[in-house]
Amino acid sequence: MSIDAAQFRQVLGHFPTGVTVITATTAEGEPVGFTIGSFTSVSLDPPLVGFLPMVDSARWHAIRETGSFCVNVLGAQQDALCWQFAKSSIEHPFDGVEWHAAPATGSPIINGAIAWIDCTIEQVADAGDHHFVLGRVVALEHAPADSNPNALLFFKGGLGEFSRHG
Ligand SMILES: Cc1cc2nc3c(=O)[nH]c(=O)nc-3n(C[C@H](O)[C@H](O)[C@H](O)COP(=O)(O)O)c2cc1C
Repeated sequence: MSIDAAQFRQVLGHFPTGVTVITATTAEGEPVGFTIGSFTSVSLDPPLVGFLPMVDSARWHAIRETGSFCVNVLGAQQDALCWQFAKSSIEHPFDGVEWHAAPATGSPIINGAIAWIDCTIEQVADAGDHHFVLGRVVALEHAPADSNPNALLFFKGGLGEFSRHG
């Protein structure tokens, strides 16, 4: 049975995800980053996380060369950053974005992210038209509880935020 591409996207769009910007700093000192929804926790011992970039993504190639990456979990108020880091047409998505370097790898931590996970690239596996990137966590932190952080969510092609029902 062949699967229709539009239906695949539409059905998978009914699975909500958080929104991250995955970043690195190139050898030339330039920040690079792109929006990734396929981020997941993988293992506690050893501490591993993963995400799935398109094999032909220029930004993924730039990040891969650095050997490390930082996952920035976007907060509910950072919807504009989601689109800014998803458009290939925006050549310098870091313009106007405040960030500082992660302690271990130097990858950008975007101010206002509700959590960040700094990683070295452990393994890259083929996964159809994507790669599965396994990262070893070397440092991580979340926003203070008293700042009442809320998550940005992606669902059915649009953005929203988490609301607690139970
Ligand atoms: C909410 C959201 C989630 C995304 N998740 C992924 C993802 O998991 N993997 C991926 O390859 N692209 C994902 N994208 C698209 C990339 O952000 C986009 O293709 C990339 O920034 C383009 O970079 P390029 O110039 O290197 O191709 C997502 C986009 C959005 C808006």
